[in-house]
Amino acid sequence: MKALVYRGPGKKAWEDRPRPKLLDPNDAVVRVTQTTICGTDLHILKGDVPTVTNGRILGHEGVGVVDEAGAGVSSFKKGDRVLISCITSCGKCDACKRGMYSHCASGGWVLGNMIDGTQAEHVRIPHADGSLYHAPSGVEDEALVMLSDILPTGFECGVLNGAVKPGDTVAIVGAGPVGLAALLTAQFFSPAEIIMVDLDDNRLEVARSFGATQAVNSRDGKAAQRVMALTGGKGVDVAIEAVGIPDTFDLCQDTVAAGGHIANVGVHGRSVSLKLEKLWAHNVTITTRLVDTVTTPMLLKNVVAGRLAPRKLVTHRFALDELVEAYDTFANAAKEKALKVVVRARD
Ligand SMILES: NC(=O)c1ccc[n+]([C@@H]2O[C@H](COP(=O)([O-])OP(=O)(O)OC[C@H]3O[C@@H](n4cnc5c(N)ncnc54)[C@H](O)[C@@H]3O)[C@@H](O)[C@H]2O)c1
Ligand SMILES: [Zn+2]
Ligand SMILES: [Zn+2]
Repeated sequence: MKALVYRGPGKKAWEDRPRPKLLDPNDAVVRVTQTTICGTDLHILKGDVPTVTNGRILGHEGVGVVDEAGAGVSSFKKGDRVLISCITSCGKCDACKRGMYSHCASGGWVLGNMIDGTQAEHVRIPHADGSLYHAPSGVEDEALVMLSDILPTGFECGVLNGAVKPGDTVAIVGAGPVGLAALLTAQFFSPAEIIMVDLDDNRLEVARSFGATQAVNSRDGKAAQRVMALTGGKGVDVAIEAVGIPDTFDLCQDTVAAGGHIANVGVHGRSVSLKLEKLWAHNVTITTRLVDTVTTPMLLKNVVAGRLAPRKLVTHRFALDELVEAYDTFANAAKEKALKVVVRARD
């Protein structure tokens, strides 16, 4: 089969690889019909994720059809159309029993990281019963693939950890796919105001069309003053950090109201300074989380019911054998006006 293979920092190649085999009775092999590229894949290509070694097939998002299911797999059989979660879960260990699948003792974020991933014609999925979801009929692959990672990430790490409530004022810093997923799912809880902050006017425009009530371009370094002015000097009830750099975490610390929440979503590569000299007295909660994908069944129901329309995050479409071009588009997202770039197998 063909697959996109990591060949060390800055290098990737579309190569021939053997079709994956079942290694354990709980494994399934899935024929990938649709996959996509994550900001995290770009981090990997920069060499920021040391667990990814030369020769690894990339990708942790996908939709496909079960090609082979091991004898221990009870919920899926050959021919089933499935959503692949970015998080692999055994369902049996202490972490899984607490719903913290991200820290599964024999799973977690392994796909396209410690084991070969979804940017290939086939992928082996360990703990298939816990890591796959039946694809509801009537929902297209490109809508479903948004549920592998970004929608549960924005919802669990941003909206749920931020404890968004009716009437809240929410700031979402970062209008990338993950920040926009937080914007879409925050609206389940009817916040009164959602202020979106980014450097890219196109993404801010998209955010407005997705329900943001205010958009702030932070290019001039005055975003904190603008957010404070928009909230009458009080600050926001929930500040969701969806970028992953010290500046944007600072913006959250500078704008959170007393009693508020800072929900960190971004993957940080550097330390940030904690402004405890102000926050200690402000009854603020700061949360962190690696997505668990424990809300995937609930998000699927909302997609089926038409209350969540993830397809609108898709801006570009490529064939699987055009994955290298798809990366070029996604890596130049501002210039290409790209959000999610989906990649599908040819019929
Ligand atoms: N916690 C988790 O489990 C988890 C899961 C998936 C992704 N992530 C992380 O979430 C973050 C967002 O992911 P994404 O795919 O949307 O990334 P992205 O790179 O597409 O989007 C980031 C956005 O931040 C904006 N930005 C950059 N610098 C800024 C600044 N100084 N001020 C305001 N905006 C700025 C960019 O213009 C861009 O729109 C990344 O750090 C990603 O690695 C975390
Ligand atoms: Zn991801
Ligand atoms: Zn587990």
